Amino acid sequence: MNISIINGPNLNLLGKREPNIYGSVTFDEYLISLKKEFSDIKFDYFQSNIEGKIIDRIQEVGFSSDYILLNAAAYTHTSVAIGDAIKSIIAPVIEIHISNTFSREDFRHKSYITPAAKGLIVGFGIDSYRLGVLSLLNK
Ligand code: DQA
Repeated sequence: MNISIINGPNLNLLGKREPNIYGSVTFDEYLISLKKEFSDIKFDYFQSNIEGKIIDRIQEVGFSSDYILLNAAAYTHTSVAIGDAIKSIIAPVIEIHISNTFSREDFRHKSYITPAAKGLIVGFGIDSYRLGVLSLLNK
């Protein structure tokens, strides 16, 4: 199985960024542990702070990967274009959020990703990604 992980803006700062909300582990460190735990799965990882680059990546992997785990970060709440990109590809998308967006500000309650996603995992800290992988194995 191939899983593409795509992270949006400011997630390159995981480990440093608001650690009380997002934790103190960097994504690179976390990815090593994911790859170790799920050694049969082929992971590729992409992060960008730029909306168009995220769309380009969704289009690039969206016809060849088995699944995409997407944390579009703040673009979740604003990007019609990322929502449209998800509707345009074949690979099912699991929407991931580290924090519980529903217990935060009202503007984080809206998602342009959810209506186009296969499922949503929110609020389990960085482990939301791991739970996303597990949801695909338990089918
Ligand atoms: C986030 C939640 C978003 O509201 C926020 O803008 C992020 C990260 C999360 O993983 O909890 O950057 O997607």
